[in-house]
Amino acid sequence: MDTEASRDRVPTVPGTGRPVPEADPALVERWRSGGGELVDLLAQVREGYGGVAAFRLGPARTVLVTDPQAVQHVLARQPDLYVKRSHRARLLIGDGVLSATGAAWKRQRRLLQSQFTGTGMRRYEQRITEAARTTAARWDGYARRGQTFDVGQEMRRFALDTIWRALTGHPLDDGTERELAAVAAVAAVLPTLPADAADAHDAVAADLARIDAVARHAIDTARGGAAGPHGPGLLDVLVQAAAERPQYTDRLIRDELVTLLVAGHETTATTLTWLYLLLDRFPAAREEALAAGDAGSAQRRQALQALVHETLRLYPSAWILPRHATADDAPAGYAVEAGTDLLVCPYLTHRDPELWPDPERFDPRRFLVPDDRPGHPGAYFPFGMGPRACLGLQFALRESTVLLEHLLPAHTVTFRATPAKTAYGITVRPDGPAPATLTPSPAGR
Ligand code: HEM
Repeated sequence: MDTEASRDRVPTVPGTGRPVPEADPALVERWRSGGGELVDLLAQVREGYGGVAAFRLGPARTVLVTDPQAVQHVLARQPDLYVKRSHRARLLIGDGVLSATGAAWKRQRRLLQSQFTGTGMRRYEQRITEAARTTAARWDGYARRGQTFDVGQEMRRFALDTIWRALTGHPLDDGTERELAAVAAVAAVLPTLPADAADAHDAVAADLARIDAVARHAIDTARGGAAGPHGPGLLDVLVQAAAERPQYTDRLIRDELVTLLVAGHETTATTLTWLYLLLDRFPAAREEALAAGDAGSAQRRQALQALVHETLRLYPSAWILPRHATADDAPAGYAVEAGTDLLVCPYLTHRDPELWPDPERFDPRRFLVPDDRPGHPGAYFPFGMGPRACLGLQFALRESTVLLEHLLPAHTVTFRATPAKTAYGITVRPDGPAPATLTPSPAGR
């Protein structure tokens, strides 16, 4: 059928696109000798050569994609041409939906998708609220005692508790929380592990064993049929799938569990930490959000969601999305040959002054007034786009908004120190502790 969508999916005839501008090797050399972060190089390449531009760190060319039309083309229009390649994270998440490809990915995605939309999502409402209440009660304690606590650590605890409740139906207990520190420990060292797969595995074997033990216990509990206080979890759905589909081995269930813990915890936690750090610099945004409507009103909820969106504009936690071209093509009219590695970079698109005026300014109103933001879908994509877009989008927005409904009116946060640097690893996160104290707000906000 010759619909517009099917025409979009036809690869461009090789050799028809314009050449992709390539950064001067001297620029790369200067960056290398200056010891800067990868993001600094990418920003210079974009600034000097445009929204589809190439650079070489070694013999191979990498194409940086920040132009909205090209972003949409690569992620959403031609997803079969631009694939994810097996990466180091497989050591931790195995064949879970984040790293799976082809028919296996389709099958795994279909099963999980139903759990993260519509009625599937509604099952998590109560769990999200309880996790938010638990955090709010802890914060009340810090406020009463005048205790200094770490905002980043608190957000990690909340996000892990929430996803654990969704997965298992149980709140996160202290022992499991301690063991799951191994997930963050492995994720943090992934980029620095040896290239050889066996050596890499040996380097983190002890942490992987701790993760496997937690997963085994959770799977056995789900299989035992003892539902948690919130009712069955997502893990029960995976265990039931195993009864009907041979592909769902215990190994794959473990991989999905760890994938959801990894994908669904650090991302939300860093977003919420950035949000509080941004409110420290732009305190009027908190006042405006609370003034938008009474507690529980749709206006208040919308204003809180706009805080989350504006935070994700400045700090999209998954800040680069790597892809590999499997055929010749021409995104936004630029010739890209088969075999090329691409980096799609929401971080830079979201800070492009031509799309987002005064991009460094934190202004949640951009997401309240429709005309205040660019109309192109490729101009804002913190959750990715197309068939591989984030499965947990609704979950992440819901848990963030519900937490803010509980925390934001109750206290003002005073940071004792803020991280001076930003770490651009697998996620973009504040690099260092964020100790703070709380002052209770007047009642009734
Ligand atoms: C603010 C929080 C979050 C952000 C910014 C975020 C961002 C993203 C992005 C950009 C992708 C696409 C990656 C790519 O195209 O290469 C993605 C994929 C994914 N996310 Fe999220 N995410 C968040 C929260 C969550 C949560 C809470 C969950 C689970 C409950 C989750 C589960 C997933 C999964 C399973 C995938 C892989 C989907 C696939 O490949 O089919 N994410 N996320």
